[in-house]
Amino acid sequence: MRILGIETSCDETAAAVVGDGRAMLSSVISSSVDLHTAYGGVVPEIAARSHIEVIIPVIEQALGDAKTGWDEIDAIAVTQGPGLMGSLLIGVLTARTLAIAKNKPLYPANHVLAHTYANFITSTSLPGYQLNNRAPEFPFLALIVSGGHSQLMLYKSHNNYNILGQTRDDAVGEAFDKVAKILGLPYPGGPSIDKAAKKGDPASVKLPKAKMENGYDFSFSGLKTAVLRAAQEMAGKDYTFPSHELPEALNDSQKADLAASFQQTAAETLADAAVRAENEFKPKTVLLAGGVAANQTLRQELQKRLNTALLCPDIKLCTDNAAMIAAAAFYGRKLSADPYNLEVIPSL
Ligand code: KG4
Ligand code: ZN
Repeated sequence: MRILGIETSCDETAAAVVGDGRAMLSSVISSSVDLHTAYGGVVPEIAARSHIEVIIPVIEQALGDAKTGWDEIDAIAVTQGPGLMGSLLIGVLTARTLAIAKNKPLYPANHVLAHTYANFITSTSLPGYQLNNRAPEFPFLALIVSGGHSQLMLYKSHNNYNILGQTRDDAVGEAFDKVAKILGLPYPGGPSIDKAAKKGDPASVKLPKAKMENGYDFSFSGLKTAVLRAAQEMAGKDYTFPSHELPEALNDSQKADLAASFQQTAAETLADAAVRAENEFKPKTVLLAGGVAANQTLRQELQKRLNTALLCPDIKLCTDNAAMIAAAAFYGRKLSADPYNLEVIPSL
């Protein structure tokens, strides 16, 4: 079954063709991130306008790369939510229109759950991908860490899962982005912190780990504030207003130490919860997913501490893409949606 996946929940316009939820025939991603850099974060109107401009060429390229004609596409999958309202609308309306015009079943996908399914893609003829060589085994734990979400989930089967814990405030990717801003490092913050941290000492700045009552929830807002306080202390002045003076008062080695200490504490916090869940639920596999899954320190921390096999997607499948949407729709599909009525759900 060949599914055309479409993803437009944030600033990436993506389309992909995936066979039977596991064979990636194409994956095309057009990002408007450069247009947002000047603002230090995604501007919803700019993202939506950019989706309109590129969505048709992106879909055409995904079909072309996969050497697949419309008659070989069995269904269309699209991100229904969560995400930015204007961005989601472009993807969903395009998918609805194509489903009607080409007479294909239409499957909605949940973006956060779909991140998990990047781990189910095990084959491709596309160059430059390092894929898992086997599909995850149930029951599995999934640590989904992105710019909008931090969730620890237990999957007993494709349609039987529950959230063990989630963030009470900032998502971990959001914390990376905010800490990068405090340190004057470019947006998106995750890769910038990752790079700066390589020259820093992760034990140099003592930062707090939030302890939550249920043991599986997270909180990253206090950690971010602790980095701000440590940075102010190093700079010897508050610099709350104007805040852009703070990074100017720090040298590269101080920034590297703060980045490395923050990254280490965030990775340990996530690993603490994953290890606790591993002991309680005895999963067969642990999956890492979402944009922050690209972080090498987090991968190493989990690998070091878990007894269960850890699966991580290729870096290009960690951040937003449409192959994960097509895979999620394949494995989780029930009844197809009415293409005349499918609505976006920004807070899904
Ligand atoms: O999954 P994603 O592409 O979009 C959402 O669904 O949110 O995740 C984007 C997030 C951003 O916050 C970005 O800073 C973070 O993933 N990220 C990273 C790395 N690469 C991207 N965080 C830590 N280390 C990285 N190498
Ligand atoms: Zn995402």
